[in-house]
Amino acid sequence: MWLFLFLGLAAAFNNPPGVDIWCGKAYQSTNASFEPGGWLDSPARSAVPLLDLKVRPRMNLYAPGDDKGSFIVDAEISYIHGEPLETEGHGCQGLHIEISVEGAQLHLKHSVTVNTSSNELEFPLQGLAPRFEPYRVNLKANRQDGSRVYTATTELYRLPERTDGGSITKLDSLYGGLLVQDSTKDSSWSSLLPYSYYVSWDGWLEKSLSNVQRFKDQGYNIIHVVPNAGLANEAFNFTEFDTFLDKCDEIGLWVMYDMRWTYQNLSSVRYQVDLLKTHKSMLLWYTGDEPDGHGDPLNATKITYDLIKSLDPWHPVSLCLNCYNFYYEEYSSGADIVLSDVYPIAVNTSWSTVYDTVCNTTYGCCGCDDCHGDMEDISTRLDIWTEYQSWLGRGPKTFWGVPMAFGNQSYWTRFPTAAEEVTMTMLNLNHNAKGIVMWDYPTSSELSNITSKLSRVLASDEVARFLLGASTVPLSVTGHSKMDVSGWKVGNRMLISILSLQTPSWSSSVSIELPAGACAVKEVLWGSGEWELDAGGLVKKGGHALETDIIVVEFDRAIPLDHFETTE
Ligand SMILES: *[C@@H]1O[C@H](CO)[C@@H](O)[C@H](O)[C@H]1NC(C)=O
Ligand SMILES: *[C@@H]1O[C@H](CO)[C@@H](O)[C@H](O)[C@H]1NC(C)=O
Ligand SMILES: *[C@@H]1O[C@H](CO)[C@@H](O)[C@H](O)[C@H]1NC(C)=O
Ligand SMILES: *[C@@H]1O[C@H](CO)[C@@H](O)[C@H](O)[C@H]1NC(C)=O
Ligand SMILES: *[C@@H]1O[C@H](CO)[C@@H](O)[C@H](O)[C@H]1NC(C)=O
Ligand SMILES: *[C@@H]1O[C@H](CO)[C@@H](O)[C@H](O)[C@H]1NC(C)=O
Ligand SMILES: *[C@@H]1O[C@H](CO)[C@@H](O)[C@H](O)[C@H]1NC(C)=O
Ligand SMILES: *[C@@H]1O[C@H](CO)[C@@H](O)[C@H](O)[C@H]1NC(C)=O
Ligand SMILES: *[C@@H]1O[C@H](CO)[C@@H](O)[C@H](O)[C@H]1NC(C)=O
Repeated sequence: MWLFLFLGLAAAFNNPPGVDIWCGKAYQSTNASFEPGGWLDSPARSAVPLLDLKVRPRMNLYAPGDDKGSFIVDAEISYIHGEPLETEGHGCQGLHIEISVEGAQLHLKHSVTVNTSSNELEFPLQGLAPRFEPYRVNLKANRQDGSRVYTATTELYRLPERTDGGSITKLDSLYGGLLVQDSTKDSSWSSLLPYSYYVSWDGWLEKSLSNVQRFKDQGYNIIHVVPNAGLANEAFNFTEFDTFLDKCDEIGLWVMYDMRWTYQNLSSVRYQVDLLKTHKSMLLWYTGDEPDGHGDPLNATKITYDLIKSLDPWHPVSLCLNCYNFYYEEYSSGADIVLSDVYPIAVNTSWSTVYDTVCNTTYGCCGCDDCHGDMEDISTRLDIWTEYQSWLGRGPKTFWGVPMAFGNQSYWTRFPTAAEEVTMTMLNLNHNAKGIVMWDYPTSSELSNITSKLSRVLASDEVARFLLGASTVPLSVTGHSKMDVSGWKVGNRMLISILSLQTPSWSSSVSIELPAGACAVKEVLWGSGEWELDAGGLVKKGGHALETDIIVVEFDRAIPLDHFETTE
């Protein structure tokens, strides 16, 4: 008994026996601080420049109906990953590359420029027979003036067609978005920018199936259902859930399926995935909810990921991380999409109002890990995760945001206001989040109203085409110190999201720098129509607290539009 107990706790984690942790930190006033570990640091810097050569397929999977695919090749000069460049004058030089796919007659020859990224190389898919195993892809490169050979590898999936009526969701590794097929129309792929909530099952949906239609009518394009921890199976009454899924199939509402209470129980996961995977409305799976906060075993998310992929290779797997920097690599390795739930409103981030302790990087739980209690906590978290990905040398991962839509409980003294909700959402998108799932629904009437209104903008095809069809470019601002602006340029139009993160209103003249060739403000999708073009930039005098403006600017066709992408 003693031995069992001791082993049980020793296996628990980094913590001394009997010490509760969140994000690896002791948080009870009766326990002392200890070093949590699991902190990811920037790797050592090389003394010489390195060529960081990487290749990946643009889509995480290709279907039998696709006739073309593409590879994304990065050839950046780095000081943390890669092989020495070895010659001087490294910029702007050509690199001969050869890509071959094992087990298929596909050999591609191209050249790319040293210190460029996101080079897209198309190839025909005909030679790659659909199969469940991935194809191994080898990339060899050499400098035009050198003998050194650089290599990189990746895997490519060309999956067999589904024969069970289920759907397929692709993940685009270039811009981070989801692609789905509308089964009621043709079989072409379209981008989906999820905008929704975590929705209570036992507290709301289960009570009446008409709530499903009501939810969709509010404008949300997916639904994430929170399972019932109180049931014996810690999931759902699957008789009822099946009826719910039939309804979602019928009305065309995408489902994000949550296994938060059961994801470490592999027989339970197998049962749930096999039971539900053939529904048309299935969009993606969700495993750990804050596994890093709970200190779940470090291999748990990846073990479950591998199992899900073996049962259903057609849908992405997601999870939500809550900690600033706690075993990021291990937990994130079990997901294609990582959600960030940073809740910075009406919270004391230096003193835990729940546990009566201080909070710092080694101790305490304040409801927002290593936060400052301001809007920037949201953008800082996404930016630092992007940096973790580059430190790990893994290429990009898709992140989604979880804006706070609750309050008046535990650490948070009130609900966010409507303006705060919009700001939090857009700040996630401005920092490259590719989906929004708020916590949680039903929420206050003020928040339901504003998010329903915002859904008309964010869940539109037009906005998805921008946000999932271009890279996110931060735009610089003068005249306002707390403004956050990003743009997405597709063709000769750019969607621009302009956020004033300060609570007082402002009266100064603000100007936003734009790429060359801006010629007209074409559309105002949200907020103020007062932005004007002046000297090639956007200008406006004064504005209100937490103002959010979403506009579309048109550019002169004569000026090449890719040009600005390098001016950030
Ligand atoms: C941690 O606190 C708990 C009570 O919350 C107590 O039972 C336990 O002995 C403490 N452990 C240590 C190592 O301080
Ligand atoms: C490589 O590109 C980066 C980012 O665009 C730039 O900051 C850096 O100066 C370039 N390095 C060289 C050696 O050209
Ligand atoms: C599941 O729900 C159905 C329909 O409401 C009900 O008849 C059945 O008893 C429930 N099953 C369990 C195990 O609770
Ligand atoms: C795992 O799930 C199965 C199927 O739901 C259940 O029978 C079993 O009790 C669960 N195991 C644990 C340890 O919870
Ligand atoms: C996962 O990690 C746990 C320790 O936390 C270990 O006991 C278990 O064997 C590991 N499982 C696998 C499949 O590696
Ligand atoms: C947090 O709580 C501490 C201790 O009660 C207090 O001194 C501090 O002013 C609070 N900070 C905020 C931002 O409320
Ligand atoms: C965090 O606070 C605890 C408790 O006051 C203290 O023991 C510890 O040294 C602090 N850690 C840091 C990094 O300041
Ligand atoms: C906050 O919560 C308390 C208790 O949970 C409730 O009595 C009160 O009405 C709530 N206040 C608001 C403004 O929702
Ligand atoms: C939300 O909208 C409904 C319906 O238009 C309205 O009755 C209600 O007063 C609104 N609530 C708030 C807090 O604005």
